[in-house]
Amino acid sequence: MKKTSPLLLALSGFIILLSFISAKPFLASAELVLDAYGEPLQWSNNYYVSPHIWGPTGGGLSLGTLNNSCPHYVIQEKSEVQRGLPIKFSPVFSRFIFVTTNTPLTIQTINETECIESLVWKLVKESTGLWLVSTNGTASPGPEGIASRFVIERIGTSFPAYKIVFCLPTIPTSCKGLGRYFSKDGERYLAWGDEIEPFPIVFFKETSLSATTFSQVIQTVA
Ligand SMILES: *[C@@H]1O[C@H](CO)[C@@H](O)[C@H](O)[C@H]1NC(C)=O
Ligand SMILES: *[C@@H]1O[C@H](CO)[C@@H](O)[C@H](O)[C@H]1NC(C)=O
Ligand SMILES: *[C@@H]1O[C@H](CO)[C@@H](O)[C@H](O)[C@H]1NC(C)=O
Repeated sequence: MKKTSPLLLALSGFIILLSFISAKPFLASAELVLDAYGEPLQWSNNYYVSPHIWGPTGGGLSLGTLNNSCPHYVIQEKSEVQRGLPIKFSPVFSRFIFVTTNTPLTIQTINETECIESLVWKLVKESTGLWLVSTNGTASPGPEGIASRFVIERIGTSFPAYKIVFCLPTIPTSCKGLGRYFSKDGERYLAWGDEIEPFPIVFFKETSLSATTFSQVIQTVA
């Protein structure tokens, strides 16, 4: 039997890895998603989501309520010193250990709430016609998981800023980044739609961020 050279083995492994990274589950090519320190995001870690620009753009993403009822909605903390609640990404199809752009994924807030709900994010259309991100979604590759399926896209070419994108199934032109809806009572709900400006974000690994260092860290990075 012919022996395969270690170099060839290593190369073929590399090529398999490359084709994995560049697999095109959506349309655009996939690349590693980096956190604010330039480390690749992993499915197994939890992350805080913060605005790309420090200051009046507010704090991290968290959970709030609409009319004090269940389920919860994803909101942005108003104060820039609030880091929000950690979230976790899960791949819908792929099992590659790193989170990549343009790869269907679900998003789940980690902290438990008083509501009986799953903490998987889900896009819902309110009676007002506004699309907001609530919890109680389903992380499933089937049709029941469609409203909970997002992709991360990079914004620009400078230091990594990203947007979380949602597409209506079968309508590629519907793809838009999540942004913020400012309600009358001053809450900032994560929202989606033609009138919603995509919101540039960065990620911080949960373990890299204690509440007290948050404001210093984000000022250094921004
Ligand atoms: C909030 O509650 C008020 C009073 O109960 C009700 O009139 C209103 O329709 C509710 N709004 C939403 C968005 O559910
Ligand atoms: C969450 O979804 C489940 C199943 O779809 C439903 O029974 C439950 O009432 C929902 N919870 C909330 C808080 O809306
Ligand atoms: C949320 O959960 C994380 C991880 O379990 C924990 O470190 C953090 O203190 C929690 N935050 C709140 C506000 O409960």
